[in-house]
Amino acid sequence: MILIQSKEECKKNSTPTIKMKQPKRYLITSALPYANGLKHIGHLAGAYLPADTYVRYLRAKKRDVVFVCGSDEHGTAIPIQAKKEGTTPKAIIDKYHEAMKQDFKDLAMSFDIYHRTSEPLHHETAQEFFTQLNDRGELEIKETEQYFDEEAQTFLADRYIKGTCPNCGSDRAFGDQCENCGRTLSPDELINPVSTLSGKTPVKKKTSHWYLPLGKHEAFLRDWILTEHKNDWRSTVVGQCKSWIEGGLQSRAVTRDLDWGVKVPVKNAEGKVLYVWFDAPIGYISATRQWALDKGKAWEPYWNDKETKLVHFIGKDNIVFHCIIFPVMLKLHGNILPGNVPANEFLNLEGDKMSTSRNWKLEMRDYINDFVKNPDGTDKENGGGQCVDMLRYYLTQIAPETKDSEFTWKGFQDAVNSELVAIFGNFVNRTFVLMHKLCNGKVPPFHNDLIDDKDKELITKITVAKETITASLEAYRFRDALFEIMDLARAGNKYMQEKEPWIVARQATKEGIPTPEAQDQIDNCLHLCLQLCANLAILVNPFLPFTAKKLCHMLKVVDKMLDWENAGSLKLLSVGYSLRAPELLFRKIEDAEITAQVEKLKSGLVKPNDQFTKQNTEMKPEQKPVIQFDDFAKIDLTTGTIIAAEKVEKADKLLKLQVDLGFETRTIVSGIALHYQPEDIIGKQVTVVTNLAPRKMRGIESNGMILMAEDQSGKLHFINPETLIDKGSKVS
Ligand code: MF3
Ligand code: ZN
Repeated sequence: MILIQSKEECKKNSTPTIKMKQPKRYLITSALPYANGLKHIGHLAGAYLPADTYVRYLRAKKRDVVFVCGSDEHGTAIPIQAKKEGTTPKAIIDKYHEAMKQDFKDLAMSFDIYHRTSEPLHHETAQEFFTQLNDRGELEIKETEQYFDEEAQTFLADRYIKGTCPNCGSDRAFGDQCENCGRTLSPDELINPVSTLSGKTPVKKKTSHWYLPLGKHEAFLRDWILTEHKNDWRSTVVGQCKSWIEGGLQSRAVTRDLDWGVKVPVKNAEGKVLYVWFDAPIGYISATRQWALDKGKAWEPYWNDKETKLVHFIGKDNIVFHCIIFPVMLKLHGNILPGNVPANEFLNLEGDKMSTSRNWKLEMRDYINDFVKNPDGTDKENGGGQCVDMLRYYLTQIAPETKDSEFTWKGFQDAVNSELVAIFGNFVNRTFVLMHKLCNGKVPPFHNDLIDDKDKELITKITVAKETITASLEAYRFRDALFEIMDLARAGNKYMQEKEPWIVARQATKEGIPTPEAQDQIDNCLHLCLQLCANLAILVNPFLPFTAKKLCHMLKVVDKMLDWENAGSLKLLSVGYSLRAPELLFRKIEDAEITAQVEKLKSGLVKPNDQFTKQNTEMKPEQKPVIQFDDFAKIDLTTGTIIAAEKVEKADKLLKLQVDLGFETRTIVSGIALHYQPEDIIGKQVTVVTNLAPRKMRGIESNGMILMAEDQSGKLHFINPETLIDKGSKVS
């Protein structure tokens, strides 16, 4: 082994590290996703991928770290989804819990445990937490008036109330939050509240609930967030907290009138459960407990010992819960507080906000199905780990760390083709190909006496890169860290281009083989390039774990080489060691692939052969094959008014109608007699298919068809304009 650089030189060249006291252990959390649907890449980029990257970095540093996540299975989101899918809340959480768990696994999220809040251990943990706060008198009980749906005979959870947002005027705001402007609301703030259960205006009714008096803790919060963490937390996070605190901290109800959730552990509290935002973050604790049980370890130090660093990775819509409400709960309960809450802003998609209701999103499952795995769970031929890393790369590169950012398929293609393939992959590939061609496939020696300025420059770059990348990771600046890694690979390409070992090999030859002097130069160049490949493997490992693994395989080193402390070293590979042939690290993304994705997104036809949707098809009305607009345009739809109706003899389902279309009156036979009495529908406005070929029914010629919708109970409803309009209006 040859020493390229003395320790002193190494130190001189690298930027000084500020020695901070290292925490004894880390507890890292990713927001528990609601088990009410599949999650999209915005979620991934916000709360999961950065956490996973950070944890992989800590593990490479040999830190004591536990990474917890799990499904958030309470709250009204669950029964609402159950209603939508015509099934039970339990079926919903089971289905989505498994599905989300699989998605995370397929994208290499390395949780130590993926738990769920429906587990008895969680109920127990949350109830104990509540009881302790309640017994100590930290909660207030208040009787208030809350919205009650008289028709459904139930108090209305915030999510069950819709109305107009007092902030932005959107008429699709919910009682807890406005989907349009993101503002957190309370039902009382909604203008024109309506129950989503019955469509009726709800009434106020008295009910008692437990409240967390946040106002009492204002001084603590000011001190802790606005002073202590003013500089080490993201300014977007501190900013949001500041406006919450300055806006006046209200007491927050921590219980709800609902039958889905963790029961309030107090006598005479039937029909009441803990508010989902009270129990869900306690899910981090129950997940840690379950992990400890499984591993035979103690969970307490992770939540009680001041030397533990607790870090919550979340999206910006969760800031208030993780920075204000949960910390107050933790403080009252005697736990440690989060050391940081690196919340991300939002990720947009192709120029628009991601939205589940508008189907403008890219679900993790969609990407997995299209790029990573076959339906049987095996890797796609040109997919697998490399495609996981490609997504991880692009999502980190555009991570919305300081402001909202945007995913575009073109951007994805560029990141893969012009960076991963053209810079990183290319550098590694060239190094390996040349090493096999010019150095017998072995790690060549480095001749210290031949070291030149270009070598020194590259060596410095490698040692400095470790410091800057480490500093960025410690500060949760994942974009910057990744940029530095790519820059290092770029420097490798530049070095190679300047050294041109292939030219040296061609020019200074004797009888076709390079002269000894030439070979020495070639050796030095490729030795450094190979050491750089090893360094790139270590540095990229937290971000692109599959790539790091593949590099280890090619370099014939064990995973242990990936220990973070090895980064910056130029002695990672032993001289004379023979290495494997290069493997493709990243494949190119073809134009056709991205056009297909954009089309799919635009046509709203996401999820083609999703196994998961398949299980669900029974609940979904049968869908006919896609038609072109031209097919649809062949149908003439016109509004008309029923001016006469009578029963058809010997046909209990049929009514004979006269429909006035304005320009003419038609006889139409319609199968609605079981649902409507003739006298009830005179004067009704309807939509008619007017160019349907005439058809005889029970001897009467029918000249058109009336559009009806059949609900789940089988009842038929007219499809008519929302207000009365002119007869003969075209419908399209
Ligand atoms: N389920 C919530 C959401 O998706 C996040 C819960 S985070 C936790 O917005 F801390 F409460 F667990
Ligand atoms: Zn709004």
